[in-house]
Amino acid sequence: MRLSARIVNTAASVAVLIGCLSLAAPAVSVAGAVEDGKKIAFSKKKGNCLACHAIKGGKLPGNIGPPLVAMKARFPVKNDLKKQITDARVKNKHSIMPPFGPHQILKSGEIDKVVEFIYTL
Ligand code: HEC
Repeated sequence: MRLSARIVNTAASVAVLIGCLSLAAPAVSVAGAVEDGKKIAFSKKKGNCLACHAIKGGKLPGNIGPPLVAMKARFPVKNDLKKQITDARVKNKHSIMPPFGPHQILKSGEIDKVVEFIYTL
């Protein structure tokens, strides 16, 4: 009796745990990626996007590039935004925006996080 109760209890705990993981994990990771992306975008040693772009929440932006607003309207396909951030030369071969991917200024995982953040703007 006691053993079967323990088994039921353990099974219930495992089920609850699995439920929590499958529900919580995607929400946490997207929110985490947006937060990380913001840090990378704002960091002078990483994206330094504020040197050229006004971005909501960023201090003392430059204005060499356009303000980053309405990104979902500007880039209905998220992957096009990723291409722009990875290598601006694809759209404008004389772009002064650094080619973050090819010049390995940002790692591909970092670019993905920056894309997640910029896409919230
Ligand atoms: C040295 C200046 C500079 C830096 C640094 C820079 N950009 Fe840019 N960016 C530009 C310019 C200029 C443009 C306008 C298009 C062009 O000339 O290529 C642009 C265009 C863009 C666009 C397209 C905007 C639109 O509405 O079409 C996005 C998105 C963008 N930049 C994101 C970023 C992100 C994210 C970072 C940081 C990881 C960054 N940029 C860093 C100069 C810069």
